[in-house]
Amino acid sequence: MSSITEDVSIENLSSLQTLPDSFTWKHTAADSVLPPSSAAVKESIPIINLSDPDVTTLLGNACKTWGAFQIANHGVPQKLLDDIESLSKTFFDMPSERKLEAASSDKGASGYGEPRISTFFEKKMWSEGMTIADGSYRNQFLKIWPRDYTKYCRLVEEYKGEMEKLASRLLSSILGSLGVTVDDIEWAHKAKNSGSKMGSSVIRLNHYPVCPEPERAMGLAAHTDTCLLTILHQSNMGGLQVFKKESGWVTVEPIPGVLVVNIGDLFHILSNGKFHSVVHRAIVNQTRSRISVAYLWGGPAGDVEISPISKIAGPVGPCLYRPVTWSEYLRIKFEVFDKALDAIRVVNPTN
Ligand code: OGA
Ligand code: NI
Repeated sequence: MSSITEDVSIENLSSLQTLPDSFTWKHTAADSVLPPSSAAVKESIPIINLSDPDVTTLLGNACKTWGAFQIANHGVPQKLLDDIESLSKTFFDMPSERKLEAASSDKGASGYGEPRISTFFEKKMWSEGMTIADGSYRNQFLKIWPRDYTKYCRLVEEYKGEMEKLASRLLSSILGSLGVTVDDIEWAHKAKNSGSKMGSSVIRLNHYPVCPEPERAMGLAAHTDTCLLTILHQSNMGGLQVFKKESGWVTVEPIPGVLVVNIGDLFHILSNGKFHSVVHRAIVNQTRSRISVAYLWGGPAGDVEISPISKIAGPVGPCLYRPVTWSEYLRIKFEVFDKALDAIRVVNPTN
């Protein structure tokens, strides 16, 4: 057994020639559900042109069948996508000591480190990430980029602004497919009326270095996002996969300028399970490193109670999820992880 194993940490992955034991994954139950190899047509998540006159229906269908889709004509300038990708590259290319200066004090807080979900897995993931949470990221930027601090903060703020605009637009349109509006979500309605934000947001920069044995490694293990929805920009190297019951793991091939959107747990609850909080993961490869920029959008204040939108659940059938405060849901998620939605599911639903 090689002894390089246990002290390997994520900031040095790019230099490794062999896969350390702590990064070697055994196949999980979900991994064995592979798409039939005889399948002639490669499945893919829908690609939706946001200028399509039927956009609401298309989005609604994609959320119901997949919980994920790609969007073209989204209005986010290509330059901004390129700039945030090069900010990420600049960061991950820095020497380990510099990256560690931005280490997060706590999983989930702003800063550099392992994915938050790493605590749920025995094996380590072949990736490194930088979390940019509202407000608190500036201290880290100042430490690592004393000269370019202002420029990079401005870029992050611009990116957040564009993403927020796009996320709100998607939310309205997707809700429209169920015949409801943002005003039917009590806390969102209040936020809108008081001119405040719909919710918190986090940007997560992910880097998946080239991997010596990709088939035995895992870039980011299977999970669902906890938020309302996620908008992901991926560099032109594939790796993201979404899970569909009938098909297994389906790769989301990158298309230049096209963004990936996926539904999170909160939207799943609000829609009373009509939309799927899609299980997804990132795999790695042996030829090229990969960058992705995830914008995780929407979560109300901790004391806000969340439950299925009554106009959706009430008139047509039973309410599938019991009301919980947002902080309670987050606590449950970080206790039972992939069982969180089940944990708040009503056993014998009645109206
Ligand atoms: C995430 C995520 C996928 C990717 O950051 O939550 O799912 O392709 N990322 O990096
Ligand atoms: Ni995710």
